[in-house]
Amino acid sequence: MAGSPTSLTLMYILWQLTGSAAPEAVKELVGPLGGAVTFPLMANVKQVDSIVWNFNTTLLVTMQPEVPTIIVTQNRNKERVSFLNGSYSLRLSELKKNDSGVYHAKIYSSSLQNPFTQNYVLHVYEHLSRPKVTMGLQSNKNGTCVTNLTCHMEHGGEDVIYTWKALGQAASETHNGSILPISWRRRESDMTFICFARNPISSNSSSPILASKLCEGAAGDPNPSMVLLCLLLVPCLLILFALGLFLWFIRRERQEENNPNGRSSKYSLFHSGNTQKDGKSPLTAHDARHTKAIYL
Ligand SMILES: *[C@@H]1O[C@H](CO)[C@@H](O)[C@H](O)[C@H]1NC(C)=O
Ligand SMILES: *[C@@H]1O[C@H](CO)[C@@H](O)[C@H](O)[C@H]1NC(C)=O
Ligand SMILES: *[C@@H]1O[C@H](CO)[C@@H](O)[C@H](O)[C@H]1NC(C)=O
Ligand SMILES: *[C@@H]1O[C@H](CO)[C@@H](O)[C@H](O)[C@H]1NC(C)=O
Ligand SMILES: *[C@@H]1O[C@H](CO)[C@@H](O)[C@H](O)[C@H]1NC(C)=O
Ligand SMILES: *[C@@H]1O[C@H](CO)[C@@H](O)[C@H](O)[C@H]1NC(C)=O
Ligand SMILES: *[C@@H]1O[C@H](CO)[C@@H](O)[C@H](O)[C@H]1NC(C)=O
Repeated sequence: MAGSPTSLTLMYILWQLTGSAAPEAVKELVGPLGGAVTFPLMANVKQVDSIVWNFNTTLLVTMQPEVPTIIVTQNRNKERVSFLNGSYSLRLSELKKNDSGVYHAKIYSSSLQNPFTQNYVLHVYEHLSRPKVTMGLQSNKNGTCVTNLTCHMEHGGEDVIYTWKALGQAASETHNGSILPISWRRRESDMTFICFARNPISSNSSSPILASKLCEGAAGDPNPSMVLLCLLLVPCLLILFALGLFLWFIRRERQEENNPNGRSSKYSLFHSGNTQKDGKSPLTAHDARHTKAIYL
């Protein structure tokens, strides 16, 4: 009964009446970049005159199974389109990114008032390569290393779901999302972090990251800005020191040059003081000896 042409026709008419979307629920398909996808088309239609496949708004393939002929509209698709044995299901290979979109198959038959339509949405995805991990700012207060690890794809990152696994000695934890907050005490046993990325057609994971490796950069307190400061300050101090030394030498040279004058001037000062005090009396032997004892 179900197979009788009249009941089928009735069903199709009903489908058409109830709205075109209901019977032809859109089929969601995914395909791997460079791979192949099959658009399943099953219809109990007697006397199929033709089947027309459209991609978005362009004509892709026309098929007349009774003749039989298959006409692929565009040359570049000739090698990519095929039909499985005796079926109406279209197979598209060598998938490209721009093959993503809406596909329609319409079956025309003299036994149908309206063509039978099946809609598809195809998403072409890349095979995921190894996800990359970047580390956020790190703080090392009180022997605890605190930072964020961010996982991302360098390309083909659409519809990617990220999860993290933190593997400790005792337990392992799973974290949803691309950002993993880390707080690791140095005294604790080491931990390993792995990022898993998956899209509808593939998955991949980062290489394992050790907490001790991650945190060793800032293990000692010299943080990069301090190192930079030292690198700038040390030469400055050295230059200042050299300059000071140089000036001191110059002064010493000058003093050495002026040394005899210096002595005599002091002597003469003393002497003149003497003479001023004692009027114009000449320097006595005692005075001379005294000054010698002081200045020589
Ligand atoms: C298609 O059918 C032919 C014979 O009709 C058979 O030799 C072949 O293996 C079939 N191919 C597939 C993919 O089923
Ligand atoms: C899709 O991209 C390929 C190259 O990767 C190009 O040859 C082709 O014309 C594009 N198709 C459409 C419909 O834009
Ligand atoms: C096909 O349509 C989809 C949206 O439905 C669009 O994103 C895509 O760019 C279209 N592709 C071409 C080749 O027109
Ligand atoms: C992960 O990606 C690398 C390239 O980045 C690739 O060599 C490897 O085969 C991929 N692993 C899986 C399981 O796909
Ligand atoms: C530092 O750690 C010690 C012991 O682990 C704790 O007693 C102290 O309160 C911590 N200090 C701060 C500022 O977190
Ligand atoms: C880690 O990321 C969260 C948001 O996800 C942010 O609030 C926090 O400040 C970040 N921590 C560090 C150390 O970057
Ligand atoms: C992570 O997400 C999955 C589903 O996406 C959920 O089942 C699981 O409970 C989540 N885990 C955490 C720790 O939030």
